[in-house]
This record gives sequence, C-alpha cells and structure tokens, in this order.
Amino acid sequence: MAKRKSERLPISLSRKFILSDETQFAIREAYKAARTNLIFSLASSERKMVVVTSCGPSEGKSTNCLNLAITMAETGASVLLIDCDMRKPVQHTLLRLDNKIGLSSVLGGIVHDISKAINRGVRTRLDVLTAGPIPPNPAELISGSIMDQLLDLASRHYDYVFIDTPPATVVTDALLFNSRTAGMIFVVKEGNTTHGGIHEALEKAKMTNGKVLGFLKVNCSAKGGKSGYGSYKYNYSYE
Ligand SMILES: Nc1ncnc2c1ncn2[C@@H]1O[C@H](COP(=O)(O)OP(=O)(O)OP(=O)(O)O)[C@@H](O)[C@H]1O
Ligand SMILES: [Mg+2]
Repeated sequence: MAKRKSERLPISLSRKFILSDETQFAIREAYKAARTNLIFSLASSERKMVVVTSCGPSEGKSTNCLNLAITMAETGASVLLIDCDMRKPVQHTLLRLDNKIGLSSVLGGIVHDISKAINRGVRTRLDVLTAGPIPPNPAELISGSIMDQLLDLASRHYDYVFIDTPPATVVTDALLFNSRTAGMIFVVKEGNTTHGGIHEALEKAKMTNGKVLGFLKVNCSAKGGKSGYGSYKYNYSYE
C-alpha cells in the first residue's frame, strides 16, 4: 500500500470533490457516463493514455484527472495516474502521498528505477506517480527521451494512463504530449472557463496535432434541470 502523509491543504484546494463512497449517486453515475464515452473513444487507440488539461488555471484538471482515473480503475482495469504538472503539483496533496521522489526525480535522472517512484495501490488497481520536487525546467523534462521511455513503459504495464497537466493556454506542457498519447480531455468549469479560452486552447491543440477526446464539464448547478438529483451535474461529450 502507498504511504500516507498528513498535510494541510492549500486554501484553494479541496478534497470534497474527490470520488469516494460518500459521493452522491448522481455524481458517481455522471463519471461512469464519462468513462463509458472515454472507453469508446479510446477503443481504436493502441496507447490508452489521456492528457487531462483545461484552458486556464484552477478549472478542476487535477481533481477530475484523479476522479477519471478512480472511475476507470473501478472497471477492473489497471490504471496509472501521472502528475505531470511539475509547476503546481497537487496529486500528492490530494492523496496524502509523499512527494520526495516522483516524476521529476525520474526525468532528472536521480531515480533510475521508475518502479521505486510509483505509489502502488493508492486505490484498488490505481497507482500514482506524483510530480516530485519542482524542477526548474518542466517543459524540457517533458520533451526529453526519458519521458518517452516512461510513457512506453506505462503503456505496456497499465490498461489506462491519466496525465495531469498545467493549463494548455498558459504553458506548453500539456501540448507536448500530443504526439505521444491518445488525446486530450478538456475540463470546463462553469462560471470560470470562457469561450475565448476554449477557442484559444482548441487552436493550440490543432496547431500541435492534438486530438481532443472530449470535454468534462464541472461545477454545473442542477437547479432548474430535469434530473433533480442535487446540485452537481457532470457532462462529457465528443467534440
Ligand atoms: N467538480 C468540481 N466542481 C466544483 N469545483 C471543483 C470541482 N473539482 C475541483 N474543483 C475546485 O476547483 C479548484 C481547482 O481544482 P484543481 O486543483 O483540481 O484545478 P486545476 O485546474 O488542476 O488547478 P491548477 O490550474 O492550479 O492546476 C479547487 O478549489 C477545487 O476544489
Ligand atoms: Mg492542477
């Protein structure tokens, strides 16, 4: 089992959105619907590796990358989540994991055996590679050959790989995965994401030959909606 660490959350972060046994039925179902769409859209992809990003900061990428990984692992598939946001890493905080070694340690050549950096069994069938200490050159590390090797290894050992990244319009990191993964999911946060932001992010994805697998809409109010299941609604649709 993975080592647990007690750590205070930054004020901007909350664990209440992470899927658990206490999560409302309607929210769990919405994630399952997203999972079904994702499974179908990845059916023909040899590498079932998905980059989770968004247009701007604080739109729910990390939380929802984790939730998609948790939901996928519930099917019995083996799943690896990699925190590739080496600028503002939070997966270790969300999951209370140690982050002394992680992705940056592997990419920086400090840890040679990747299996030593992976936290196994964070949830059933879900392993997590945290970001590690913040490096000075995240984009260069992501572009490098060690990242290629890591992705090759991950695609051979896991059924699905979910990659948490920084916002696509702010830094280039998420786009650097475009030729190496099945595609991107954009998290769209109601009341936060703008049409201009989506447009800019899609332009950037297109310029880098990125495949947009879909959008995951979060923070939606169900008020006035037909479901009557409560105050959250998740949506996932093909582009
Ligand atoms: N499903 C959700 N509905 C509403 N708010 C959410 C949801 N998921 C996450 N949030 C909130 O949005 C904020 C940002 O979450 P998170 O860190 O996951 O976003 P992010 O896009 O990864 O941020 P960053 O750009 O800093 O990496 C947090 O306050 C989090 O609690
Ligand atoms: Mg994040």
